[in-house]
Amino acid sequence: MNTLTARFMVSGLLFVFSIVTGIWLRNSGRPFGDILFTTHKLSAVATVILIGWSTYRIYKLGDLPETSILVVAITGALFLVLAVTGALLTFDKLASQVALRIHQIAPALALTSMGVSIYLLSVVDVARQIGAAK
Ligand code: HEM
Repeated sequence: MNTLTARFMVSGLLFVFSIVTGIWLRNSGRPFGDILFTTHKLSAVATVILIGWSTYRIYKLGDLPETSILVVAITGALFLVLAVTGALLTFDKLASQVALRIHQIAPALALTSMGVSIYLLSVVDVARQIGAAK
């Protein structure tokens, strides 16, 4: 397993951890416990940083197929939606049913597009390694 694959796997685990702590947060009800809420936010931020960094490293090498760029952009947009709706849900006055519904659906969509992104980027990365070895 190369470093990039390992990084994406850690991002995937962090993402699943964000979902688990999110469901736990919801079940624990308001007011949210500081430790649980901080854990949820930190794991979400760590996921975004790790995925963003790994993706940037591949992107910097250039020559990414357009499909990969599109799927990565969709994944980024979904993470942005999660951050915005998460921020809205933080405040009792801004927490609406719509924001909650979006915050519940977006993880499934982000997980799917993240999986596709990782697959596409790994294919590009492997192709590069084969090219470099020739
Ligand atoms: C990777 C990013 C994130 C994922 C995958 C994620 C996932 C989730 C999930 C699955 C829930 C449970 C929803 C339910 O079952 O009803 C949840 C709840 C929640 N999340 Fe996130 N979340 C993310 C980022 C954030 C961020 C950045 C914030 C805050 C700035 C946040 C704030 C909240 C709050 C406040 C709740 C509780 C909502 C409520 O019970 O009213 N989330 N999250």
